[in-house]
Amino acid sequence: MKRVLAAGLELDDDKTRIDRAEVHRYLCDESYWAAGRQRETQDRLIDEAARVVGLYDGEQQIGFCRAVTDGVSFVYLADVYVLEEHRGRGLGEAMLREMVERGDLTRLKWLLHTSDMHPLYEKLGFGVPNAKVMERLPPP
Ligand SMILES: CC(C)(COP(=O)(O)OP(=O)(O)OC[C@H]1O[C@@H](n2cnc3c(N)ncnc32)[C@H](O)[C@@H]1OP(=O)(O)O)[C@@H](O)C(=O)NCCC(=O)NCCS
Repeated sequence: MKRVLAAGLELDDDKTRIDRAEVHRYLCDESYWAAGRQRETQDRLIDEAARVVGLYDGEQQIGFCRAVTDGVSFVYLADVYVLEEHRGRGLGEAMLREMVERGDLTRLKWLLHTSDMHPLYEKLGFGVPNAKVMERLPPP
């Protein structure tokens, strides 16, 4: 599925369109949560994703996010970014709306982690979880 946002700008959930080298570059070199991630790991995360949504300016990959799910009870949203020069124009919100409000996963429970983007996710219907939510961190 492809969606035109404005002249030259598109959302697309076609995995084969993902510029894997560029997504790896951003996440490995610029993100705070996946710094140093190996290319093989990143490729596997794309392969295993239930859905990815890419944001494109022509052929250039300018944003990305991915979703992981058991297909029944929950979806986990991860690796959300828009390149800095394209931020603040509603593109991140549009990309995330495509991910959470369209496609087959929209009726499931969505989970995510964020350090500082709570206002963005609140616009999309996410809330701070209650005390029923727990997490088990990987061993050090
Ligand atoms: C998070 C990110 C994808 C948002 O993309 P964007 O295109 O700039 O976001 P939008 O312009 O669509 O903004 C939508 C809403 O997000 C929120 N938001 C955007 N930037 C924000 C910021 N720096 N701090 C807090 N909230 C912010 C606002 O509520 C905004 O709505 P408003 O413009 O009506 O105030 C982008 O800033 C980014 O890639 N940041 C670095 C990576 C990152 O932090 N990813 C998220 C990890 S959880």
